[in-house]
Amino acid sequence: MTIIVTGGAGFIGSNFIFYMLKANPDCRIVCLDKLTYAGNLSTLASVMKKPNFRFVKADICDREAVDRLFAEEKPDVVVNFAAESHVDRSIEDPGIFLETNILGTQVLMDACRKYNVKRFHQVSTDEVYGDLPLDRPDLFFTETTPIHTSSPYSASKASADLLVMAYHRTYGLPVTISRCSNNYGPYQFPEKLIPLMIANALNDKPLPVYGEGLNVRDWLYVEDHCKAIDLILRGGKIGEVYNIGGHNEMRNIDIVKLICKELGKPETLITHVTDRKGHDMRYAIDPTKIHAELGWLPETKFADGIVKTIRWYLANRPWWEEIVSGEYQNYYRKMYETR
Ligand code: NAD
Ligand code: DAU
Repeated sequence: MTIIVTGGAGFIGSNFIFYMLKANPDCRIVCLDKLTYAGNLSTLASVMKKPNFRFVKADICDREAVDRLFAEEKPDVVVNFAAESHVDRSIEDPGIFLETNILGTQVLMDACRKYNVKRFHQVSTDEVYGDLPLDRPDLFFTETTPIHTSSPYSASKASADLLVMAYHRTYGLPVTISRCSNNYGPYQFPEKLIPLMIANALNDKPLPVYGEGLNVRDWLYVEDHCKAIDLILRGGKIGEVYNIGGHNEMRNIDIVKLICKELGKPETLITHVTDRKGHDMRYAIDPTKIHAELGWLPETKFADGIVKTIRWYLANRPWWEEIVSGEYQNYYRKMYETR
C-alpha cells in the first residue's frame, strides 16, 4: 500500500510518518511537502534513507507537480496534512491560507479522482466549530455541531471540509475527515503556545500570554492523533467526519505556569500582552463517535505527555535553536515587540 502524506515535514505530518513506518512496516510512504517556513527536512532525517520512504519537495497547489507524482506513485491513500496552520499568521495575512488550505485541497482531490485513489483523508481541526463559552462546561463539539468559524485560518479549513464533502457527494470520491483538538509533542514549530513558552523560558525571555490567559484548549499528545488517523484509514466509514480529542481541557495560563515549574523558571517571566483578535474562548471535543466506532482512546495522559515534550525540547536544542535564530526573529519582532 502506498500512502502520499502531504505536509509531512511539519509537526503532525512528521509524527504521523514515524508512527506509520513503525506500526505498518509494509506500507510505502511518500511525503509531499513544499518546505515552507514550517517544514523542516531535518525532522525527517531518521527515515530519509528507508527503502519504503520517499520525500518530494512540491506545492500541493502545483497541479503539474501533483499530477506527475500521482502518475509515478499510483497511491492507494492520500492523507492531507499540508496547510498554513497558525491562527496569528492568518490574521496578519489571510491570502496564503485560502490558497494552500482550500485550493491545494482541491488540486489533491482532482488528482485522487483521476488516479482512482481509494481514500482521501483530510486532516481538519476542531476550530471549524468556532468556540464554546467558558461558563458552559457541559457543552462539547460533536460531529453535528454547526460550522461557525472565527479566524481566516479556521474559515479556510472549514471551506476545505465543505469542498471535501462536495467531492464525495458529487463525484463519489472516497473521503474521510478528522477534526482534532490542539496537539502537543516533539517537532512542533516554536510559534505555537507550548514550544514557544518552552523556548522562551529556556532563554529567560518573557512569556507572552494573550489577555488574561483564561482561554481553554483541549490538549492531545500528537501520537494519539496519529493513531486515530491510522484507525480511520483502516475502519472509518467513507463520507464521515470523526472528532478526535481526549477530554483534557486546560487554561493557557495554567499551561504556562506548569512549564515554568517543570523548567525551574520564575513565574515573573509571564507577561500579559494584547489579546488575539477574535480569540476563541474554549475548545472541547466529544470523542464518543471515534471511541464507539473504532475503539480509539488517547493513551498519553497530559501530565506525562507535557514532561515528555519538555524533555524532548531540552534534548533537541539544535532543532529549535536553528529555527528561532533565523527568519523567526523577524516574525517574533513583528508579532510580539509592540504587542
Ligand atoms: P505545521 O505548520 O507544523 O506543518 C505544515 C506542513 O505543511 C509544513 O511541513 C509545510 O511545509 C507544509 N506545507 C504548507 N503549505 C504547503 C503547500 N502549499 N504544499 C505542500 N506542503 C505545504 O502544521 P501542523 O501543526 O503539523 O498541522 C498539520 C495539519 O493538522 C494542518 O492541516 C492543521 O490544520 C491540522 N491540525 C493541527 C492541529 C495542531 O494542534 N497543530 C490540530 C488539529 C488539526
Ligand atoms: O484546535 C486545533 C488548532 O490548534 C489547530 O487547528 C491549529 O493549527 C493550531 O495552531 C492550534 O490553534 P491555537 O490557536 O489554539 O494554538 P496556539 O498554540 O497558537 O495557541 C494556543 C492558545 O495559546 C491560544 O488561546 C492563544 C494562546 N497563545 C498563543 C501564543 C502563540 C498565547 O497566549 N501566547 C502565545 O504566544
